[in-house]
Amino acid sequence: MLNRRKFLALAAAVPLTAVGAYAILRTPARATGFSSPLFIPGDGGPFGVLIPQGKLALVAEHGTFPLAGGKTTPFLWYRTQHQGKTYQNPILNVKTGTQLSVTLDNALDEGTILHWHGLHLPGKMDGNPRDTIGPGVQYHYDFTVNNRSGTYWYHTHAHGHTAKQAYFGLASFFIVEDEDEVALREALDLQLGVTDLPVVIQDKRLNQAGEFVYSPNPMEKMMGYLGDTILANLTPTPFTEIGARIYRFRLLNGSTARIYKIAFAKGEKLFPYHVIGNDGGLLDKPYSASEVFLAPGERLDILLDASTLSKGDEVYLRSLAFDSLEGGGMMGGMMGVMGSASLANGDAFNIMKLAVTQPSGAAQRLPARLSKVNPIKTAGAAVRAINLEMAQMRWLINGNTYQMDAFPIEVKRNTVEIWEIHNAGHSMPHPMHIHGFQFQVQSRQNSPAQVRALASHGNGRTVSDLGWKDTVLVWPGETVRIAIDFSHDFGGDQTYVFHCHNLEHEDGGMMVNLRVRA
Ligand code: C2O
Ligand code: CU
Ligand code: CU
Repeated sequence: MLNRRKFLALAAAVPLTAVGAYAILRTPARATGFSSPLFIPGDGGPFGVLIPQGKLALVAEHGTFPLAGGKTTPFLWYRTQHQGKTYQNPILNVKTGTQLSVTLDNALDEGTILHWHGLHLPGKMDGNPRDTIGPGVQYHYDFTVNNRSGTYWYHTHAHGHTAKQAYFGLASFFIVEDEDEVALREALDLQLGVTDLPVVIQDKRLNQAGEFVYSPNPMEKMMGYLGDTILANLTPTPFTEIGARIYRFRLLNGSTARIYKIAFAKGEKLFPYHVIGNDGGLLDKPYSASEVFLAPGERLDILLDASTLSKGDEVYLRSLAFDSLEGGGMMGGMMGVMGSASLANGDAFNIMKLAVTQPSGAAQRLPARLSKVNPIKTAGAAVRAINLEMAQMRWLINGNTYQMDAFPIEVKRNTVEIWEIHNAGHSMPHPMHIHGFQFQVQSRQNSPAQVRALASHGNGRTVSDLGWKDTVLVWPGETVRIAIDFSHDFGGDQTYVFHCHNLEHEDGGMMVNLRVRA
């Protein structure tokens, strides 16, 4: 009998149509409307795709963003002028090896700094909260992009104000391309903004006027701020028309605290897709999946084959129900007393409708190989224990909350470490993120049942643990081992942070400095 691994390996080599085994959807989802056109980035304006030529000047400033239904919301964005066009929050599209020169101009009325999430950069170029600049001040970045092709992003890391500033808009995609990306694009005839769609998923609270509201109470500061309106590319209940062919979705969880369990559904059945990339770029080959957790900060690069569908068919991008596991003991009781958003973490809902407008087409063959993922050599690596827990209503990393001038984690350059991240049993899921490096997930232990059910990739790992990662979700009670190679060729000591990407947790101090000693 074929085991699941072998089946997946085979499945990746045959046309997608052969993998159309439907699973039964267990959870009905709220579905109303879905008649607003999905906002799709163009080549200018908000989220326009920008290929940097020469210096780039980004101004962090207040603006207003048009929402569906003729409403607008106060917004924060990075505005720039480039080759005669104005952009807000440009989607930066660069080739590996590109040298970038960027100036951040703080036109806000409080501190800010821009962080390049997932990029391998010297500490001073990374956008560390220690480098927060005041209003009217500029910060200069000069670096070479040396990451693999993949879906990275950039966002504010203002000390103490990251969640609020990101919530109001200071974030966008940073898409890196190398030869593997070119080969994939050619093999599947993918076009960024047409059949290759970056989609950021967020949850917001809106007032009567349709404006974003960010006003976490003390409990929400501790647990995370949830919205009850789900937006894809800032569009509530969006739809987009698709042809009967393969589409690529680069999903980014840009929410401050909400976790999604990503699925596609046709009627009441799950519609399988292929995962082709995680945080740090393309996987070795496509992996079939139908349910994947996506935590704040994480990216999921997927292919959806609509060639078996026909005109009039509808497929929903959906978040499936799950147990948020937020309520161990004391905290569960408090959550009950204090109440929370009307849409809880773990509730099911539709995110986006895909409407097929063409008759079925010919099946497209997926490439059997996407890229090369070299395993980090872990022989002899030191093991570092990282413990996540709560005390005195604060989330702690190894007993610490963030202190700007303390360096609880020091590692030696050019060494490999195994971090054994253990989350307390009475806790919450924490998406843990490291700056400056991509890591590899080695194993998951003591995972909750809903994670074990997806752990078909060896050592308790799920499909979102494959390849390269910069953010990993650690559930209550779980122990996740990651391997990090601290090699770099930057001169001198380098300073980064390691933190929870639940941005309320991060602002609340669930972060530590990390120094890589030369
Ligand atoms: Cu997107 Cu410090 O993180
Ligand atoms: Cu980051
Ligand atoms: Cu957290």
